[in-house]
Amino acid sequence: MIPSYLIDFELSDLPVVETDVIVIGSGIAGLYTAILASEHQRVLLITKKSLLDSNTRYAQGGIAAVTAEDDSPLYHRQDTLLAGAGLCSSTAVDVLVNEGPVGVQELIRLGTMFDVENGELALTKEGAHSHRRILHANGDATGYEIVRALSIQVEMLHNIEVWDDHFVIDLITEDGECHGALVQMQDGKRVFVRGKATVMCAGGAGQLYRYTTNPEVATADGVAMAYRAGAEIRDMEFIQFHPTALSYPGAPRFLISEAVRGEGAVLRNIKGERFMHKYHDLMELAPRDIVARAIVSEMEETRSTFVYLDITHESPEMVKHRFPTIYETCMQYGLDLSTDWIPVSPAAHYMMGGIKTNLYGESSLRRLFACGEVSSTGVHGANRLASNSLSEAVVYGRRIVERIRTIAPQPEGLPAIGHNLGRKDGPLQAIVERRLKLQKVMVRYAGLRRNRESLLRASEELGRQLPFFQSSLTKREEYEFANLLTASLLVVQGAIRREESRGAHYREDFPERNDGTWQRHVLHKRDQEMTEEISDDV
Ligand code: SIN
Repeated sequence: MIPSYLIDFELSDLPVVETDVIVIGSGIAGLYTAILASEHQRVLLITKKSLLDSNTRYAQGGIAAVTAEDDSPLYHRQDTLLAGAGLCSSTAVDVLVNEGPVGVQELIRLGTMFDVENGELALTKEGAHSHRRILHANGDATGYEIVRALSIQVEMLHNIEVWDDHFVIDLITEDGECHGALVQMQDGKRVFVRGKATVMCAGGAGQLYRYTTNPEVATADGVAMAYRAGAEIRDMEFIQFHPTALSYPGAPRFLISEAVRGEGAVLRNIKGERFMHKYHDLMELAPRDIVARAIVSEMEETRSTFVYLDITHESPEMVKHRFPTIYETCMQYGLDLSTDWIPVSPAAHYMMGGIKTNLYGESSLRRLFACGEVSSTGVHGANRLASNSLSEAVVYGRRIVERIRTIAPQPEGLPAIGHNLGRKDGPLQAIVERRLKLQKVMVRYAGLRRNRESLLRASEELGRQLPFFQSSLTKREEYEFANLLTASLLVVQGAIRREESRGAHYREDFPERNDGTWQRHVLHKRDQEMTEEISDDV
């Protein structure tokens, strides 16, 4: 049983900090939402590390939006729906493709400098996009440029207060309404932050897996908190593995952008043979799930732990100019992207599911919103189209702020909320070991390919960790582990339930997509059985 709060507390014993809008997380969703909300309200932006530490910072490929004359929102819509494999919400996708271009203009207005060629925005292509529509910055450092520009704005705006290095432990809720958050400050003291709206922008869950392109901070905090608070969580079985992360002894699983394939790079097995023609007509630019599984099949067939990515047909000047970050990082390990084939393998990259929201980012709890990777707006379905995530954050961030403006302030007086399980002893096993064990279980039994037996094994292994929730937790590493455990259970339960293969969820024992039974979402709610909901993909 997962409790509603990670710690024992009495709200009336805690100091209270009042604001209008609480934003949790500092990736593109958090920064952008905070900036827009601050035009009319006081904002408190809380981040567990710094404004520059988030998944967004590592985004390379770019941001997808229709800006070229030969492109159209209709094409972008078709591509998104096709990649989403029958589980997108078509209305949510309509919003994304029609409002994405305005979102890009807003980022430019706020200081983001996208790459320009011959006086026009430079556009690249990525997997499953029918047109060149990916804007990028400094070649392959798009996320960093966005975070740089937005964090300068955040620091300048008087209506935004930033709490960095603060950890949000839980949301405070009563009768289906969110009142704010329980926060642990740098010195270990805890406070209750109260606001008329709380916007969860805490990002993804790459750290569920041993091999991930995500930074250390991606520990599923937002989705786990919202689940404990009683919000509806949707489609957690869909975890996207990026096909090409650097796979080299001593090197991190550094992302090698899909844009490298977009510019013509090919995949080769360790015998040097191209192989994607065996798997999909779009070859290296097939949807991500297909490329990732094709790579694993080739790795198995050739008994290797990697395949090669080859862009050596391009000139060294082009490679260095277009992919400076990737080039420099590979060089640190003695690999020259312009002359060497780069060893790559798939790694956990993106959580398609999350906190279920409507078209205004509202969750099933009143006054709780979700934006960015932590949310499940319906845009990504079973498989996110490359570079749609940054556009989703700005499009839905704007809508959330519009909705918050219409919300009444919290009533006077504090809710009488307390929680006491009589927890005493802290965790016995070292937290680092627990985390590593969980990540290995998820890779082995609930990874890119799963089956009922492996998933039941995962469930059993994770279930052994449940007593952790009964211990008295005080450190952020402990809260993070509790969040990883919560989210991994949701991934595994959803994956057991979905007896078919679709998008990023591949069941070896049910290898076909089954629209008759499974064009449905899986919903989780604490203390309730999982339920299903028919998809409105049309
Ligand atoms: C990439 O550059 O390949 C990552 C882009 C994305 O995940 O959307």
